[in-house]
Amino acid sequence: MYGEQSIQSVDIMTVILVDHLCKSFPQATATRVESVPAVDHVSLKLASGQVIAILGPSGCGKSTLLRLVAGLIEPDAGRVLYDDVDLRHIPVEERGIGMVFQDGALIPHWDVRQNIGFFLWLRKRESEVPQRVSRISQITGIGLEKLLDRRPRQLSGGERQRVGIARALARDPRVFLFDEPFSNLDAKLRTQARVELKKLLHEFPVTSLYVTHDQTEALALAHRIAIMRAGKLEQMGDFETLYRNPINLFVATFFGTPTMNLFEGVVRGHHWQGISFGGLPVRGDLEEGTRITLGVRAESIRLGGEGVPALVTAATPHYGERMQLVEVENGREHWTLVAPLDGRVLVGDTLTCTLAEVDCLFFDSVTGQRVG
Ligand SMILES: Nc1ncnc2c1ncn2[C@@H]1O[C@H](COP(=O)(O)OP(=O)(O)OP(=O)(O)O)[C@@H](O)[C@H]1O
Ligand SMILES: [Mg+2]
Repeated sequence: MYGEQSIQSVDIMTVILVDHLCKSFPQATATRVESVPAVDHVSLKLASGQVIAILGPSGCGKSTLLRLVAGLIEPDAGRVLYDDVDLRHIPVEERGIGMVFQDGALIPHWDVRQNIGFFLWLRKRESEVPQRVSRISQITGIGLEKLLDRRPRQLSGGERQRVGIARALARDPRVFLFDEPFSNLDAKLRTQARVELKKLLHEFPVTSLYVTHDQTEALALAHRIAIMRAGKLEQMGDFETLYRNPINLFVATFFGTPTMNLFEGVVRGHHWQGISFGGLPVRGDLEEGTRITLGVRAESIRLGGEGVPALVTAATPHYGERMQLVEVENGREHWTLVAPLDGRVLVGDTLTCTLAEVDCLFFDSVTGQRVG
């Protein structure tokens, strides 16, 4: 009887608008204290029930952005709106934020039942706890019931995480905010926890922001991914957009595995000319001699035929995907390509490579901006 005893109804879902948010922190240098932006004019809109993942290198401002959206810290400029109302004008108890952190952040001297039921207890609705616990167990397929009488220190990392999520769900959140919730778990447990969370978010579509370092996790859970660098939101989109249409070199090389191959070159007679490859048509308005970096994904380099000779330096099989990643070099240049798992590519071999022209991306080598 799925769907009958819904923990929350759709009408309380929330639209979040992040509007030119800025936050700086003082940072001491050798000679003075400077104010360094951690979140720099970030704007984004989270539709009702949508999950956006925030992806970016360490220190780029992901957690700070999440804490601003949670109202845990005040912005220097800009605002956060929940359903058109400025977060600062919403009393804390009405914000309805479910936060899940890396360590689960459970209260150590309470058992699991008390931890999950805390918000219901606050609202004098503790009688609803058993029903909610069993519903969450049912959807995720995890035996939360078995854990109810234990204290957090008697739980494994994975169990603690699940209790943290159950607790956040049990409070009827308008908004779910996750900060690398599974980063303490090993690879297998992480995949499992991700699947459980995905089921929960499907059953209870709560508007969510999900901070992670892990692209696979972001792709599995989120409708869209926002890429951050040094406090700025560089680009937001689905997998296809970020993978095929990155707006600059940073997004192109940060997103997708293996890392996009890059080749330095210049414009000669409306064509891109590099060291190994060349003769690719470029945008007509690019001036002769402009330095342009060509970006090509591993799967867009073809093997065989009349191509550029390349010496195989390594071949790494990926059995699950039935392919191997092959590293090759030609003089000072080296790149990675995808080859079938047929054993015909050996280290020391010389192959020929050609580029799939339609998949070639061009970037201004100085600014990093996409130019074709
Ligand atoms: N309370 C604080 N005081 C001073 N500086 C801070 C504070 N919080 C964050 N910062 C700085 O702001 C920047 C962004 O930090 P933040 O924690 O948001 O990064 P992050 O993207 O979450 O990194 P990670 O992936 O390592 O968790 C960093 O340079 C950090 O040192
Ligand atoms: Mg962080």
